[in-house]
Amino acid sequence: MSWDRAVRRVGYALAAVVAAMAGQSESASSQEVRWGRSYFPNVVLQDQHGRSLRFYDDIIRGKVVSINFVYTTCTDICPLDTAQLRQVQQILGDRVGRDVHMYTISINPERDRPEDLRRFMRTYDIAPGWTFLTGARADIDLLQQRLGLRPVDERNLREHETSIVVGNEATGRWIKRSAYESPQLLADLLGRVLHNYGPPVTSTRETYAVAGEVTDRSRGFYLFRTRCRSCHTIGEGDRLGPDLRGVASARSHAWLSRWIREPDVMIAERDPTAMALLARYRNLPMPNLGLNEAEANQIIDYLRREDSAATSTQP
Ligand code: HEC
Repeated sequence: MSWDRAVRRVGYALAAVVAAMAGQSESASSQEVRWGRSYFPNVVLQDQHGRSLRFYDDIIRGKVVSINFVYTTCTDICPLDTAQLRQVQQILGDRVGRDVHMYTISINPERDRPEDLRRFMRTYDIAPGWTFLTGARADIDLLQQRLGLRPVDERNLREHETSIVVGNEATGRWIKRSAYESPQLLADLLGRVLHNYGPPVTSTRETYAVAGEVTDRSRGFYLFRTRCRSCHTIGEGDRLGPDLRGVASARSHAWLSRWIREPDVMIAERDPTAMALLARYRNLPMPNLGLNEAEANQIIDYLRREDSAATSTQP
């Protein structure tokens, strides 16, 4: 077996352990030995200001961290990942940078220089305390493998793994979560579970809307909650994207359905409505989330139901 494959195997093995560990408590000491300095490479990365940071010593050692991988020109899942983590940061408030550390690492490091990371952070209106990193491709590949993530094929970045890894280096507890997870749950993992079950995390800035979560079991609501809500609210004001109250009657069904399925194509075609919106929202392109027509219709139905529920409860 080549060294690379051996490393990858260890990575996969860790991923399996990580997955099995969710919800269990682990003895800290045994983990420390396995996944400490000797397991995680101390490779040097650059942050958005061009400062050098060593992965083990400066980035994870003794810390509760979230780590995910994106590239700044990504138009599908990375924007959603970023928007979800932005919600997590808002829920955790000033704990981020203090006892919870958030890191996003580029998987297109030749292209993503520190200034590109800064531009991406401005586009996504990222608050201080969350660090973006770039470095050498070989080092970043190795980190992904050690974190139990599928290696990136640089000719096909779109296929990259979008999981978010959260962990506590001091206790050796590592958990892999999906980009579709609720930000509240991720915040709870980072702020409470990984801190050896500290006090519950209560949002400092916004109460993450959970109303209707239990009663509405429609596919449309599920899709909205997992794919759209980190960027859009309905009747609560703008997030990264516009408030969607009334949009189902303001735009034609055909326009909406296509926009939900392939906003990237409509932007490339310079659709006038899309271009006007893009300019208003800091040039943050709404991502293509790979939804099909039936799913787009389910979401549109959900938006309509929300609108009529709001109208019927008005005095
Ligand atoms: C990463 C953030 C993000 C995600 C996730 C996202 N959007 Fe958007 N959306 C935007 C932005 C930003 C705009 C404004 C146009 C632009 O900049 O591309 C937008 C625009 C829209 C519009 C047009 C609003 C109008 O006034 O016409 C609709 C409709 C919409 N999004 C629906 C959705 C739906 C449905 C989902 C989930 C399937 C979704 N979006 C997921 C960011 C996002």
